[in-house]
Amino acid sequence: MADQFHVGLDVLTGERPLMAHSPAAVRQPAPEAGRTFYMETFGCQMNVHDSEKVAGVLLRRGYRQVDTPEAAALVLYNTCSIREKAAQKVFSRLGQFKAGSDGSKVIGVLGCVAQQEGEQIFERAPWVSLVCGSASYRKLPELLAELEAGNRRVTGLDTDTDETFETEITRRDNPFRAYLTIIEGCDKACAYCVVPFTRGPERSRSSASVLEEVRQLADVGYSEVQLLGQTVNSYRDPSRRISFAELLVAVSEVPGIRRVRFTTSHPRDFHRDIVEAIDSIPALCDHVHLPVQSGSTRILRAMQRTYTREEYLEKLAMIRAARRPISVTTDIIVGFPGETDQDFADTLSLLDLAQYDGVFSFKYSPRPNTPAISMADPIPEEEKGRRLAVLQERQRRIQTARNEALVGQTFEVLVDGQSRKENQWAGRTSSNRVLNFSSPQENLLGHYVQVKVARAGPNSLVGERVI
Ligand code: 5AD
Ligand code: SF4
Repeated sequence: MADQFHVGLDVLTGERPLMAHSPAAVRQPAPEAGRTFYMETFGCQMNVHDSEKVAGVLLRRGYRQVDTPEAAALVLYNTCSIREKAAQKVFSRLGQFKAGSDGSKVIGVLGCVAQQEGEQIFERAPWVSLVCGSASYRKLPELLAELEAGNRRVTGLDTDTDETFETEITRRDNPFRAYLTIIEGCDKACAYCVVPFTRGPERSRSSASVLEEVRQLADVGYSEVQLLGQTVNSYRDPSRRISFAELLVAVSEVPGIRRVRFTTSHPRDFHRDIVEAIDSIPALCDHVHLPVQSGSTRILRAMQRTYTREEYLEKLAMIRAARRPISVTTDIIVGFPGETDQDFADTLSLLDLAQYDGVFSFKYSPRPNTPAISMADPIPEEEKGRRLAVLQERQRRIQTARNEALVGQTFEVLVDGQSRKENQWAGRTSSNRVLNFSSPQENLLGHYVQVKVARAGPNSLVGERVI
């Protein structure tokens, strides 16, 4: 049976839902003439959601969002520096912008590149006025006031914070799935990773505040929420009232919430209680993203991942033993300094054992400030590329086989996409698989429907709606 999706009006009008976070209704000031902003976001879901909150801060100050940088007085780039390529993108964007700009705009760099490069950004791109890392977003109103007063070199570059970024209003872009951050930063110190430097130390939001936001999301019609954190399962309620698994249960029990997701989990903090919660609560989605990074214990040790291949496989066995099939996806880095042919072979054999439902794989990219940057890295770029291609081909075959095994089964999907071809729709299963199907019904966006799988590819399924 298809359920009506209450944010449907927004979907049809193209208006993005605006969320108030304080119990008292937050009044938005009328936009002031000239206060327009454009924001482009790079990187992970955490960045996407940070941008939604930053947009909320701007709207609260009387800014209006526009769709092109040309139309904006304030142009913001929320940046990613996880790999070198991502960081370079920002500077190429800033370069393009210089060429097209007459200097009448205020340009800001937010996020991980801002934190990493700091004031050097002003040297590389003197037309930039604001540089602000994510650990300083709570200071945005003050920083904006400085910009509005005409200051042309404004920075927010704290990292030693114990506060989280909560806003009065959030401008959510995705009308179907609401992101919400429950833990910021990271204390894990993996040898290759910039995140502990760019996002600061781990700090959790109170469970009371998380649950209040989930209730508000349900009130405005969201039925699916995704809890976010760089290491989401390291969540610790500051009041010690509940554990991460108990928070998952409490969120799933909020009236109106039908699907709860969470990402990204760290294997070290992944315990049986999470599997038990998924097993017993249908609203908790049957999907876990559990990055392994390498299948070689030697490399895992060099990466400072804090678990061995065997320990990881034990966690996986615990997930696979659940009564409810749980899909598992992962992240893998190939070509970490010192990775031998044998280490790489161990990663391939782990793929065979793990039978992942999806793998995000990357060539190792040396990052500033990280311990790995000073490790000898003799693996040539072409060899890293070769390993990546071998790994991806191996996984493609595994995924095709796993998806083909689903042919004939029926899944509930939340419809979140429509193809240009008439009557073609795309939805997500609870396990986060994309399932495409045809249906003549008028507008299915935001509805839950049952779809029977007819065909499978490595990355998606095709099916028929079951009425
Ligand atoms: N090089 C390549 N991949 C990286 N990741 C993190 N840092 C690096 C790096 N320096 C990958 C990890 C992580 C994902 C988000 O990005 O696999 O889980
Ligand atoms: Fe980076 Fe490791 Fe923290 Fe993930 S757990 S954000 S890979 S340091």
